[in-house]
Amino acid sequence: MKTLLAFNGSTRSDSFHGRIIRALPALTPDAVRIAEFDLNDVPFYNQDLEGDRQPAAVVAMRAAVAEADGIIFAAPEYNYSYSALTKNTIDWITRPMGAGALRGKKVMVISVTPGPGAGRKVTSTIAEILPFLGNEVISVVNAAAIHEKMDANGRITDDDLTSALRAGLAAFS
Ligand SMILES: Cc1cc2nc3c(=O)[nH]c(=O)nc-3n(C[C@H](O)[C@H](O)[C@H](O)COP(=O)(O)O)c2cc1C
Repeated sequence: MKTLLAFNGSTRSDSFHGRIIRALPALTPDAVRIAEFDLNDVPFYNQDLEGDRQPAAVVAMRAAVAEADGIIFAAPEYNYSYSALTKNTIDWITRPMGAGALRGKKVMVISVTPGPGAGRKVTSTIAEILPFLGNEVISVVNAAAIHEKMDANGRITDDDLTSALRAGLAAFS
């Protein structure tokens, strides 16, 4: 059984990215499990909190990344870039430099927005920095007007988005 670890760069209670993560298990190939890591207890990166001073949530996050077969960043676009939460996650799991838990992991990046831009700026930014950090971005999925592509129960109602997510997940196999 492969495990793909998902991070939501939004803590908004009705986050579209949270809804997308929860919709993924129905779209994954057999023998693939999606696990979402709860970022609520992860503090802002602080180099003083390294070594034996790592917060428990950071220890757990780094262990979960190290054990995962692949990583999914569900990354909202904030002001034409990533949210502070997405950046903070990347900063924690890329330390210590050159030997962070994220190194060598295959990554899928998803961004959706009610707006017309489809989150392409944030996904291209993440896809640009991750190879520099030792990662291969194996798939990128974007969607504009996401409020028209999911129902109130979080089910994806758009065929193109469903196909893109399926193909992105299959790329981990
Ligand atoms: C501070 C802030 C900046 C935003 N900037 C952008 C942006 O540059 N491009 C865009 O398409 N949407 C932008 N949005 C809208 C978000 O894409 C939208 O709120 C989205 O639903 C956030 O993801 P979530 O539903 O998972 O919380 C912004 C939202 C916030 C709160």
